[in-house]
Amino acid sequence: MVFRAKATDEYELARRKVTYFVNACDSREIVFTKNATEAINLVAYSWGLSNLKPGDEIITKVAEHHSAIVPWQIVAQKTAAVLKFVNLNQDEVPDIGKLKELLSKKTKIVVVHHVSNMLASVLPIRDIAQWAHDVGAKVLVDACQSVQHMMVDVQGLNVDFLVASSHKMCGPTGIGSLYGKIDLLSSMPPFLGGGEMISDVYLDHSTYAEPPSRFEAGTPAIGEAIGLGAAIDYLSGIGMQTIHDYEVS
Ligand SMILES: Cc1ncc(COP(=O)(O)O)c(C=O)c1O
Repeated sequence: MVFRAKATDEYELARRKVTYFVNACDSREIVFTKNATEAINLVAYSWGLSNLKPGDEIITKVAEHHSAIVPWQIVAQKTAAVLKFVNLNQDEVPDIGKLKELLSKKTKIVVVHHVSNMLASVLPIRDIAQWAHDVGAKVLVDACQSVQHMMVDVQGLNVDFLVASSHKMCGPTGIGSLYGKIDLLSSMPPFLGGGEMISDVYLDHSTYAEPPSRFEAGTPAIGEAIGLGAAIDYLSGIGMQTIHDYEVS
Protein backbone atom coordinates (compact mmCIF):
# COMPACT_ATOMS: atom_id res chain seq x y z
CA MET A 1 0.00 0.00 0.00
CA VAL A 2 2.87 2.34 0.86
CA PHE A 3 4.44 1.64 -2.54
CA ARG A 4 1.16 2.28 -4.29
CA ALA A 5 0.77 5.63 -2.49
CA LYS A 6 4.35 6.57 -3.35
CA ALA A 7 3.84 5.65 -7.01
CA THR A 8 0.66 7.75 -7.11
CA ASP A 9 2.44 10.69 -5.46
CA GLU A 10 5.32 10.52 -7.95
CA TYR A 11 2.94 10.17 -10.89
CA GLU A 12 1.01 13.25 -9.77
CA LEU A 13 4.28 15.11 -9.15
CA ALA A 14 5.23 14.35 -12.78
CA ARG A 15 1.89 15.83 -13.85
CA ARG A 16 2.64 18.99 -11.88
CA LYS A 17 6.06 19.20 -13.56
CA VAL A 18 4.40 19.12 -17.01
CA THR A 19 1.88 21.70 -15.76
CA TYR A 20 4.64 24.17 -14.78
CA PHE A 21 6.69 23.33 -17.88
CA VAL A 22 3.96 24.47 -20.28
CA ASN A 23 2.57 27.03 -17.80
CA ALA A 24 -0.90 25.50 -17.54
CA CYS A 25 -2.88 27.04 -14.70
CA ASP A 26 -4.11 23.77 -13.20
CA SER A 27 -2.67 20.23 -13.21
CA ARG A 28 -6.15 18.90 -14.06
CA GLU A 29 -5.43 20.32 -17.52
CA ILE A 30 -2.63 17.80 -18.13
CA VAL A 31 -3.61 14.33 -19.36
CA PHE A 32 -0.94 11.66 -19.72
CA THR A 33 -1.19 9.65 -22.94
CA LYS A 34 0.92 6.94 -24.56
CA ASN A 35 2.44 9.47 -26.99
CA ALA A 36 1.53 12.62 -28.90
CA THR A 37 -0.34 10.59 -31.52
CA GLU A 38 -2.67 9.20 -28.86
CA ALA A 39 -3.17 12.71 -27.46
CA ILE A 40 -4.29 13.98 -30.89
CA ASN A 41 -6.55 10.96 -31.35
CA LEU A 42 -8.05 11.65 -27.92
CA VAL A 43 -9.06 15.16 -28.99
CA ALA A 44 -10.21 14.03 -32.45
CA TYR A 45 -12.42 11.23 -31.11
CA SER A 46 -13.62 12.80 -27.87
CA TRP A 47 -13.99 16.47 -28.82
CA GLY A 48 -14.30 15.94 -32.57
CA LEU A 49 -16.99 13.27 -32.63
CA SER A 50 -19.15 15.18 -30.17
CA ASN A 51 -18.74 18.64 -31.70
CA LEU A 52 -18.33 18.28 -35.48
CA LYS A 53 -21.37 18.32 -37.74
CA PRO A 54 -21.67 17.79 -41.51
CA GLY A 55 -20.10 20.74 -43.35
CA ASP A 56 -18.06 21.95 -40.38
CA GLU A 57 -14.45 22.63 -41.27
CA ILE A 58 -11.20 21.40 -39.77
CA ILE A 59 -8.27 23.49 -40.98
CA THR A 60 -4.80 22.03 -41.01
CA LYS A 61 -1.69 22.16 -43.19
CA VAL A 62 0.04 19.89 -45.66
CA ALA A 63 3.19 20.20 -43.55
CA GLU A 64 1.71 18.49 -40.48
CA HIS A 65 3.08 15.21 -39.16
CA HIS A 66 0.74 12.39 -40.26
CA SER A 67 -0.13 11.86 -36.59
CA ALA A 68 -1.89 15.22 -36.75
CA ILE A 69 -3.62 14.49 -40.08
CA VAL A 70 -4.89 10.91 -39.97
CA PRO A 71 -7.03 11.18 -36.79
CA TRP A 72 -8.83 14.17 -38.36
CA GLN A 73 -9.31 12.30 -41.65
CA ILE A 74 -11.03 9.51 -39.72
CA VAL A 75 -13.17 11.88 -37.69
CA ALA A 76 -14.05 13.95 -40.79
CA GLN A 77 -15.22 10.76 -42.52
CA LYS A 78 -17.35 9.82 -39.52
CA THR A 79 -18.93 13.27 -39.10
CA ALA A 80 -19.01 14.50 -42.71
CA ALA A 81 -16.92 17.47 -41.60
CA VAL A 82 -14.56 18.90 -44.22
CA LEU A 83 -10.79 18.71 -43.77
CA LYS A 84 -9.05 21.66 -45.45
CA PHE A 85 -5.31 21.96 -46.00
CA VAL A 86 -3.10 25.02 -46.18
CA ASN A 87 -0.22 24.66 -48.64
CA LEU A 88 3.31 25.96 -48.50
CA ASN A 89 4.05 29.44 -49.88
CA GLN A 90 6.83 30.34 -52.33
CA ASP A 91 9.35 30.29 -49.48
CA GLU A 92 8.33 26.68 -48.82
CA VAL A 93 6.90 27.40 -45.39
CA PRO A 94 3.22 27.12 -44.38
CA ASP A 95 1.15 29.90 -45.96
CA ILE A 96 -0.17 31.53 -42.80
CA GLY A 97 -1.93 34.26 -44.79
CA LYS A 98 -3.90 31.52 -46.58
CA LEU A 99 -4.74 29.91 -43.25
CA LYS A 100 -6.19 33.21 -42.04
CA GLU A 101 -8.21 33.54 -45.27
CA LEU A 102 -9.67 30.03 -44.89
CA LEU A 103 -11.03 30.72 -41.42
CA SER A 104 -14.78 31.27 -41.29
CA LYS A 105 -17.78 30.57 -39.10
CA LYS A 106 -17.67 27.03 -40.52
CA THR A 107 -14.23 26.46 -38.96
CA LYS A 108 -14.50 24.43 -35.77
CA ILE A 109 -10.88 23.54 -35.12
CA VAL A 110 -7.45 24.55 -36.40
CA VAL A 111 -4.72 21.90 -36.09
CA VAL A 112 -1.21 23.31 -36.39
CA HIS A 113 2.34 22.48 -35.44
CA HIS A 114 4.33 24.95 -33.39
CA VAL A 115 7.65 23.93 -35.00
CA SER A 116 7.62 21.73 -38.12
CA ASN A 117 9.44 18.39 -38.01
CA MET A 118 9.98 18.72 -41.78
CA LEU A 119 10.64 22.41 -42.39
CA ALA A 120 11.68 23.73 -38.95
CA SER A 121 9.23 26.58 -39.56
CA VAL A 122 8.06 28.25 -36.33
CA LEU A 123 4.46 29.37 -36.51
CA PRO A 124 2.93 32.45 -34.83
CA ILE A 125 0.68 30.40 -32.56
CA ARG A 126 -0.63 33.31 -30.50
CA ASP A 127 -1.90 35.04 -33.67
CA ILE A 128 -3.34 31.82 -35.11
CA ALA A 129 -5.18 31.16 -31.83
CA GLN A 130 -6.57 34.71 -31.86
CA TRP A 131 -7.81 34.39 -35.47
CA ALA A 132 -9.34 30.99 -34.73
CA HIS A 133 -11.07 32.23 -31.60
CA ASP A 134 -12.41 35.25 -33.51
CA VAL A 135 -14.47 32.83 -35.66
CA GLY A 136 -15.38 30.62 -32.68
CA ALA A 137 -12.95 27.79 -33.51
CA LYS A 138 -10.65 25.83 -31.20
CA VAL A 139 -6.91 25.41 -31.71
CA LEU A 140 -4.87 22.25 -31.26
CA VAL A 141 -1.11 22.76 -31.31
CA ASP A 142 1.31 19.94 -32.02
CA ALA A 143 4.24 21.02 -29.85
CA CYS A 144 6.30 17.83 -30.33
CA GLN A 145 9.13 19.83 -31.88
CA SER A 146 8.92 22.98 -29.76
CA VAL A 147 8.64 22.20 -26.04
CA GLN A 148 12.22 20.92 -25.88
CA HIS A 149 13.64 23.91 -27.76
CA MET A 150 11.89 26.98 -26.33
CA MET A 151 9.61 28.17 -23.56
CA VAL A 152 6.03 27.19 -24.34
CA ASP A 153 3.35 29.00 -22.38
CA VAL A 154 -0.14 27.65 -23.07
CA GLN A 155 -1.78 30.55 -21.25
CA GLY A 156 0.25 33.18 -23.08
CA LEU A 157 -0.42 31.47 -26.42
CA ASN A 158 -4.08 30.99 -25.43
CA VAL A 159 -4.37 27.61 -27.14
CA ASP A 160 -7.15 25.13 -26.40
CA PHE A 161 -5.16 21.92 -26.75
CA LEU A 162 -1.43 21.26 -26.95
CA VAL A 163 0.28 17.90 -27.33
CA ALA A 164 3.87 16.88 -26.64
CA SER A 165 5.90 13.69 -26.61
CA SER A 166 8.37 12.62 -23.92
CA HIS A 167 10.82 10.88 -26.23
CA LYS A 168 11.48 14.19 -28.01
CA MET A 169 12.29 15.78 -24.66
CA CYS A 170 15.11 13.49 -23.45
CA GLY A 171 12.46 11.40 -21.67
CA PRO A 172 11.36 7.79 -22.11
CA THR A 173 9.14 6.41 -24.86
CA GLY A 174 5.59 5.35 -24.02
CA ILE A 175 4.44 8.65 -22.54
CA GLY A 176 3.09 11.87 -23.99
CA SER A 177 0.92 14.68 -22.73
CA LEU A 178 -2.19 16.55 -23.69
CA TYR A 179 -2.88 20.02 -22.33
CA GLY A 180 -6.54 21.02 -22.60
CA LYS A 181 -8.34 24.00 -21.09
CA ILE A 182 -10.20 22.63 -18.10
CA ASP A 183 -13.65 23.76 -19.24
CA LEU A 184 -13.12 21.96 -22.54
CA LEU A 185 -11.79 18.75 -20.99
CA SER A 186 -14.68 18.80 -18.51
CA SER A 187 -17.17 18.97 -21.38
CA MET A 188 -15.63 16.05 -23.28
CA PRO A 189 -16.68 12.38 -23.09
CA PRO A 190 -14.12 9.65 -22.37
CA PHE A 191 -11.94 8.40 -25.19
CA LEU A 192 -11.21 4.91 -23.79
CA GLY A 193 -13.20 3.10 -21.10
CA GLY A 194 -12.24 1.24 -17.91
CA GLY A 195 -9.85 1.59 -15.00
CA GLU A 196 -9.17 4.93 -13.34
CA MET A 197 -11.53 6.79 -15.66
CA ILE A 198 -14.68 5.58 -13.89
CA SER A 199 -16.62 7.15 -11.08
CA ASP A 200 -19.32 4.46 -10.62
CA VAL A 201 -20.00 1.39 -12.73
CA TYR A 202 -23.47 -0.14 -13.07
CA LEU A 203 -24.44 -2.95 -15.39
CA ASP A 204 -26.28 -0.69 -17.80
CA HIS A 205 -24.16 2.46 -17.61
CA SER A 206 -21.22 4.10 -15.88
CA THR A 207 -20.37 7.54 -14.62
CA TYR A 208 -16.98 9.04 -15.26
CA ALA A 209 -14.23 10.66 -13.23
CA GLU A 210 -13.35 14.32 -13.67
CA PRO A 211 -10.40 15.23 -15.92
CA PRO A 212 -7.63 14.23 -16.14
CA SER A 213 -8.56 10.75 -14.82
CA ARG A 214 -11.51 10.61 -17.23
CA PHE A 215 -9.01 10.32 -20.07
CA GLU A 216 -6.53 7.95 -18.44
CA ALA A 217 -8.12 4.51 -18.82
CA GLY A 218 -6.40 1.47 -17.33
CA THR A 219 -3.21 1.32 -15.32
CA PRO A 220 -1.19 4.38 -16.28
CA ALA A 221 2.41 4.41 -17.48
CA ILE A 222 3.65 5.37 -14.02
CA GLY A 223 7.37 4.78 -14.52
CA GLU A 224 7.35 6.53 -17.88
CA ALA A 225 5.54 9.57 -16.45
CA ILE A 226 8.11 9.79 -13.65
CA GLY A 227 10.84 9.53 -16.31
CA LEU A 228 9.23 12.39 -18.22
CA GLY A 229 9.27 14.39 -14.97
CA ALA A 230 13.01 13.73 -14.65
CA ALA A 231 13.55 14.88 -18.27
CA ILE A 232 11.67 18.09 -17.49
CA ASP A 233 13.88 18.62 -14.43
CA TYR A 234 16.89 18.19 -16.70
CA LEU A 235 15.64 20.65 -19.36
CA SER A 236 14.46 23.15 -16.74
CA GLY A 237 17.80 22.83 -14.95
CA ILE A 238 19.55 24.08 -18.09
CA GLY A 239 16.75 26.57 -18.67
CA MET A 240 14.54 26.74 -21.76
CA GLN A 241 15.70 30.27 -22.54
CA THR A 242 19.34 29.11 -22.36
CA ILE A 243 18.56 26.17 -24.68
CA HIS A 244 16.75 28.43 -27.12
CA ASP A 245 19.47 31.10 -27.10
CA TYR A 246 22.13 28.44 -27.68
CA GLU A 247 20.22 26.91 -30.59
CA VAL A 248 19.58 30.21 -32.39
CA SER A 249 23.11 31.56 -31.84
C1 LIG B 1 5.65 17.14 -35.15
C2 LIG B 1 5.35 15.76 -34.66
N1 LIG B 1 4.08 15.45 -34.32
C3 LIG B 1 3.75 14.24 -33.86
C4 LIG B 1 4.69 13.25 -33.72
C5 LIG B 1 4.27 11.92 -33.19
O1 LIG B 1 4.75 11.79 -31.87
P1 LIG B 1 4.59 10.40 -31.06
O2 LIG B 1 5.62 9.49 -31.62
O3 LIG B 1 4.85 10.78 -29.64
O4 LIG B 1 3.21 9.92 -31.25
C6 LIG B 1 6.01 13.51 -34.06
C7 LIG B 1 7.02 12.46 -33.96
O5 LIG B 1 7.89 12.29 -34.79
C8 LIG B 1 6.36 14.81 -34.54
O6 LIG B 1 7.62 15.13 -34.88
